[in-house]
Amino acid sequence: MPLALELDSVDFAYEHGPPVLRDVSFEVEAGEFVAIAGPNGGGKTTLLRLALVLARPTRGRVQLFGEPADRFRDRARLGYLSQRAQLGVQAPATVREVVSAGRAARNAFGRLTAEDREAIEQAMERVGLADLARRPLSRLSGGQQQRAFIAKALVSGPQLLALDEPTAGVDVEAQEALSGLLARLNDELGVTILYVSHEFGAIEHVVRRLVLVRGGIVFDGPPSSLPGVWHDPSHVHV
Ligand SMILES: Nc1ncnc2c1ncn2[C@@H]1O[C@H](COP(=O)(O)OP(=O)(O)O)[C@@H](O)[C@H]1O
Ligand SMILES: [Mg+2]
Repeated sequence: MPLALELDSVDFAYEHGPPVLRDVSFEVEAGEFVAIAGPNGGGKTTLLRLALVLARPTRGRVQLFGEPADRFRDRARLGYLSQRAQLGVQAPATVREVVSAGRAARNAFGRLTAEDREAIEQAMERVGLADLARRPLSRLSGGQQQRAFIAKALVSGPQLLALDEPTAGVDVEAQEALSGLLARLNDELGVTILYVSHEFGAIEHVVRRLVLVRGGIVFDGPPSSLPGVWHDPSHVHV
């Protein structure tokens, strides 16, 4: 089975900017759950964008499911909950409408098939929002809004799901519900998960592999083998 993701000696800088990531080599097997942490500005979002082919490396190579990233076309296999996805929830869209939009990548003509509808219902069910399908997002709690965005990222049936700080601004209970949901997706559906979080405490118990990003990968291993200095919140938290 090919690796879900492979970065080989990757450097990255934004145009006219200083290096953001240097010499990143990073392999993720299909079915892994990888937690990503690190200081604000360390390059976590950039790393996800490279993995999802939303940015190209200035040096080195990125491969997705065994294919060079720049030739990878099958976007439905990638799910992304971006760091800013939750802005704009004042919009009157309902849960079902938001989740349906995540299916758009699969049907260019905009008409939902029976299969699309089934996938939309299943995604809402999976995140526990089936009963709130007709509720506008503006009338949901922060945790429920997040689950709606996760359903949107899931509805195309991705094999790789990347979430960028989905727990920012939600309470501990909602964070734990989210960790449980992600662990089940990983376990039951075999979805490979890249999970950037600054609320590291809430996910520690489900995480077997933690990657710390600060201009490159400065730690990659089980959280239990994290050197003491990294437990300092100023290193790990945003
Ligand atoms: N679009 C952009 N243009 C220029 N610089 C950027 C852009 N996005 C991020 N950066 C810079 O790249 C560095 C890493 O940012 P980012 O990947 O967002 O880090 P993190 O997600 O860990 O906070 C920061 O110094 C940030 O200012
Ligand atoms: Mg970020």
